[in-house]
Amino acid sequence: MNVILEAIFKRRAVKVFEPVEISEGIREQILNAARHAPSSFNSQPYRLYWVGSTAQKAVVAKLCMGQMPAETASALIVVVVDIGSLAATSQSQLEWMRGRTEFSEARIRNYERTAKIGRILFMPGPFGIFGAVKRGIFWLLNLWKVMGMPPTSRQDLFKWATKSTSLACENLMIAAEALGINTCPMEGFDGRRLLKYLGLSARYHEIVLVIAMGKKWQNYVEPPQWRRPLHATVSIL
Ligand SMILES: Cc1cc2nc3c(=O)[nH]c(=O)nc-3n(C[C@H](O)[C@H](O)[C@H](O)COP(=O)(O)O)c2cc1C
Repeated sequence: MNVILEAIFKRRAVKVFEPVEISEGIREQILNAARHAPSSFNSQPYRLYWVGSTAQKAVVAKLCMGQMPAETASALIVVVVDIGSLAATSQSQLEWMRGRTEFSEARIRNYERTAKIGRILFMPGPFGIFGAVKRGIFWLLNLWKVMGMPPTSRQDLFKWATKSTSLACENLMIAAEALGINTCPMEGFDGRRLLKYLGLSARYHEIVLVIAMGKKWQNYVEPPQWRRPLHATVSIL
């Protein structure tokens, strides 16, 4: 079977790990695979915290309600949506474009303009006032033109960023599997305390998942994997 498909089909949420060292080389490959995931406007609106030291892992595992995958993992990756990173990311892409010969001045200017419009369009503004105005304007525009709706509130922005962040999570887990490392995605954590522990602000950050990582404990037996049948999941139009 194709190696990528093999990793996809073999991956399971492993609940008990045995202690192993994850080398720096493997760690880098896994994290690189995560950040190569596609993201809306290439905004990569997330930050991954690799928690590998014994002391910090113990704290984070406790904040994951002491779940077994967290307690036994070799590393825990806290995946955080970061809606405060957008301006810096587009600035950094702009600098990257300026340093390359493939992009004409016109193309760079066009990117700069689009990034500026995007930033304004995605801003909810103080007390969400700009968001409400935007919602009204787009609602009216939608009456005569097919155009969708940009995120209009901070909540919308978190939801928008979570889509891209989730793709990075899946890339990370499949890459780990391909490299012989098992994972367990977890949403069972105390988000408020975990944000505080990482020194992050709920205004810009939201924890999407904590991913436990390690080698499956040799005595751990996975339950059979169940999925809804294809026809219950897919509509072919
Ligand atoms: C968003 C999300 C949250 C999850 N949260 C937890 C969790 O907190 N604890 C846990 O043990 N497993 C968690 N899981 C793992 C699921 O239970 C598991 O993926 C599912 O039962 C299917 O099993 P499989 O991944 O082995 O096919 C989570 C999975 C996802 C995608």
